[in-house]
Amino acid sequence: MVEAKFAIGLIGSGRIGRQHAMNISKHPRAELVAIADPDISSAGLLATRIDARAVAEPRELIHDKDIDAVVVASPTSTHVDLIAECLEANKHILCEKPIDLDIARVDALWAEVEASEVHIALGFNQRFDPAFSEVYTRISRQEVGTLEHLSLISRDPGPPPVEYLSTSGGIFRDMTIHDFDLVRHFIGDIDEVSAFGAQLFDPGAREVGDYDSVTVSLKSKSGRTANIFNSRHSPFGYDQRLEAFCSDGNFTVSNMESSLVGQSTARGTGSRVGFEESFLVRFNDAYRLELDEFVKLLEGSDSTSPTFEDGREALRLADAALESAQSGKVVSVNTSR
Ligand SMILES: NC(=O)c1ccc[n+]([C@@H]2O[C@H](COP(=O)([O-])OP(=O)(O)OC[C@H]3O[C@@H](n4cnc5c(N)ncnc54)[C@H](O)[C@@H]3O)[C@@H](O)[C@H]2O)c1
Repeated sequence: MVEAKFAIGLIGSGRIGRQHAMNISKHPRAELVAIADPDISSAGLLATRIDARAVAEPRELIHDKDIDAVVVASPTSTHVDLIAECLEANKHILCEKPIDLDIARVDALWAEVEASEVHIALGFNQRFDPAFSEVYTRISRQEVGTLEHLSLISRDPGPPPVEYLSTSGGIFRDMTIHDFDLVRHFIGDIDEVSAFGAQLFDPGAREVGDYDSVTVSLKSKSGRTANIFNSRHSPFGYDQRLEAFCSDGNFTVSNMESSLVGQSTARGTGSRVGFEESFLVRFNDAYRLELDEFVKLLEGSDSTSPTFEDGREALRLADAALESAQSGKVVSVNTSR
């Protein structure tokens, strides 16, 4: 029997758009039918690789009656308007993080989101990383007692260009937002946030008034705590680690070694090569599983896709962390809308 496929349109054919395009095209129950990007040559190049149609105007794709769902992978500043347009056209949405840089613009969409039958999933792919989700499942089973503290280390190999930084909304909204989502996923809604930021090495971050290194402490409403350590550089490659400290032990996730070959010399012992160079490689499986979860949502099956509300809460934590870093105070996060 031939399985029905969901017709998906992709908006944005840049770094993350290309990743989604490949995953949609390989999914057994999804078909990438069109790609929209004002840079039509970029959309065209990608569309040719997967036999889809390229258009310059996202609205053309959103209002195409043959398209069931839209993946929004264009710059953050376009997300709110595109979500609103998709809601109007009754198209299900998988939207990249963050929803927007301005919480007021996110909140302005709430009434429409709540009134709509449209499914909205947020691109917090790290929840679907096989190692992180194994830890999550084993904590839920209380294999080593109850979770008491979560520590996340997340460091990029090198800082992005200053042009990127100038529109990124700052490290908390751009980078730490993934960690904020993971923390909420593991320890629930957050009550208090305390953060520090530093400008240690990146002239670009200094130029735009951003931090290149941050530390965040969070306390959940259930009284559990978490720490996040972020840096825009890491000399040994993309650094993603997790420790979940529990009452009877802990779980750890370390970096993926790209070689089984070790080397020992008078200078030291250990791996011969650095870690992964890019989030696209490290989280390759996570992006694929994120899409699979979105397809389940479209099918009406049980799905754990992060929601619009998850996107909003992660942004509120980013705002709280920035306020704390700038004021030197602990910031309370209330959950009212
Ligand atoms: N989940 C993740 O791990 C992850 C990783 C990277 C980026 N992102 C998010 O994905 C989004 C895109 O980031 P990127 O790194 O792929 O950016 P990018 O600059 O590489 O690509 C953006 C693409 O969107 C196109 N574009 C610009 N304006 C558009 C519009 N109005 N409509 C349609 N397309 C338009 C550009 O021409 C470009 O091809 C951002 O919101 C970013 O925060 C998420």
